Amino acid sequence: MKRLEIKDLCVAYGGVKALRGVSLSVAQGQTVMITGPNGAGKSTLMKALAGVVKPQSGQIFLGGHDVTGLSAERVAVAGLSMVPEGRHVFGSMSVLENLRVASGRRRDKAQVLADLDSLLDVFPMLKERTHVQAGLLSGGQQQMLVIARALMTAPTLLAIDEPSLGLAPKVTDQVYESLHTLQARNQLSLLIVEQSSARVVMTGAHMVLLRSGQVVLEGSARSLDAQAIEAAYFGM
Ligand SMILES: Nc1ncnc2c1ncn2[C@@H]1O[C@H](COP(=O)(O)OP(=O)(O)O)[C@@H](O)[C@H]1O
Ligand SMILES: [Mg+2]
Repeated sequence: MKRLEIKDLCVAYGGVKALRGVSLSVAQGQTVMITGPNGAGKSTLMKALAGVVKPQSGQIFLGGHDVTGLSAERVAVAGLSMVPEGRHVFGSMSVLENLRVASGRRRDKAQVLADLDSLLDVFPMLKERTHVQAGLLSGGQQQMLVIARALMTAPTLLAIDEPSLGLAPKVTDQVYESLHTLQARNQLSLLIVEQSSARVVMTGAHMVLLRSGQVVLEGSARSLDAQAIEAAYFGM
């Protein structure tokens, strides 16, 4: 079953065409990685998906429901949780408070506690620091916190914009290991943006390469030829 389907999506900022007919899909439990150079439209795609920017044309289906043009709140209710670029934690609140705030609207309180336990197991660095002020965490710990916080809404699709930005490669490895565990446990569907195509190839996931607002290459990161990736990335 397709968790997400994007059809022929176009987004413009005034006269700037940021997305020119992008189509892609994410199956239940699948990871899809979006890569491409600076300005390719990766963040715009995430924002359009999350209801933060309105598309000019095209359609977005979440779990079979048309969510095109819906508000961010309604898209979240439909099952999407988006982690924007920049690791925005609530700095003066503790790790635990950050996580609790995110689940505030859920009525299934027993399940919320179970989810919290299970998330803290996947992120031991957070478990050891539940009472630490989030603003005092390292960059890697903050990235883990925003991912864990996004999962406290119990989404079916988690979208993350540039989780590795500004992190050391070893820390990025830890973030990806945790994501891998979460996915295996929960049949979670993941859509992840990474500017580094090398990182995408390392994950071996399905890769979608964007350039100038269009998909220029797509396929399993393991099967795509390294030279073809480089040529598509740099527009040669
Ligand atoms: N708020 C905005 N207003 C005008 N132009 C924008 C805005 N956000 C992004 N753009 C433009 O849209 C294009 C795609 O940007 P973006 O989606 O941020 O790319 P990426 O995330 O791949 O670096 C770029 O040309 C960028 O300058
Ligand atoms: Mg971006």
